[in-house]
Amino acid sequence: MAPHAPGRRHYLMCRPTHFAVEYAINPWMDPGASVDRGRAIAQWEALRALYLELGHRVSLIEPIEGLPDMVFAANGALTVDGRVYGARFASAERTPEGPAYLDWFRARGPAETHDPKYVNEGEGDFTVLDDVVLAATGFRTEAAAHQEAERFLGRPVVTLQLTDPRFYHLDTALFALSGGRVAYYPGAFSEGSRRVLRSLYPDALLATEEDAAVLGLNAVSDGRNVVIAAEATALIRRLRGLGYTVHPVELDELRKAGGGAKCCTLELRGL
Ligand code: ARG
Repeated sequence: MAPHAPGRRHYLMCRPTHFAVEYAINPWMDPGASVDRGRAIAQWEALRALYLELGHRVSLIEPIEGLPDMVFAANGALTVDGRVYGARFASAERTPEGPAYLDWFRARGPAETHDPKYVNEGEGDFTVLDDVVLAATGFRTEAAAHQEAERFLGRPVVTLQLTDPRFYHLDTALFALSGGRVAYYPGAFSEGSRRVLRSLYPDALLATEEDAAVLGLNAVSDGRNVVIAAEATALIRRLRGLGYTVHPVELDELRKAGGGAKCCTLELRGL
């Protein structure tokens, strides 16, 4: 089955048991603002319940005290064809998450894992499509990690440059609707990367700044259903117009840390 054929997915999630905004490593985070952890947990539980309702499988990793961003499982690894490319975080605050996620995969059973040499924040900066992997650099992931991932995964990786600090991870600026179709906010990318995206995806859905600014591009698609921030109203309308079944979700409490639905979700491909 092509990785993006509509159907059942397997996701890894981490309950925000220890969620907080205690440091600021992106412009969304304000350690002085109040955060309602109970509300974050309820919003996350609703997301998990939705995946199960849609027929997906959800595995869980145990949250670790002192790692308030661990809920953002997308950053924990990149998986393709049963191979696991580990994460190496850019910030000291999140560094322990890299080995924690890799340990989860190793404890789970035999899978080919790779402890990365270069800084990369997993699926936060890599998007897997049918024939290529799109990868971003600019804020977190080093371009050298793109080549490292390409060699380990055996899939061509296309490097894109992010330029707007609000959209510091690729998954805040672009998502795969299906294996050959993407949605993105052009303003998040350099001029050269916009040209690359235009030539690779002439039929892409281009999102507005308003949709991007509520993390509307931090969405999860199984090829038919799209799980997306409820506030991304224009994008939701257009997705419905294209025939997708859209599931708006409220994740504003987690957005205080700069994350949305996709950030909470690591896809396990071939695992
Ligand atoms: N506070 C986290 C950070 O800045 C949010 C990560 C969001 N994850 C994502 N895949 N975009 O690292």
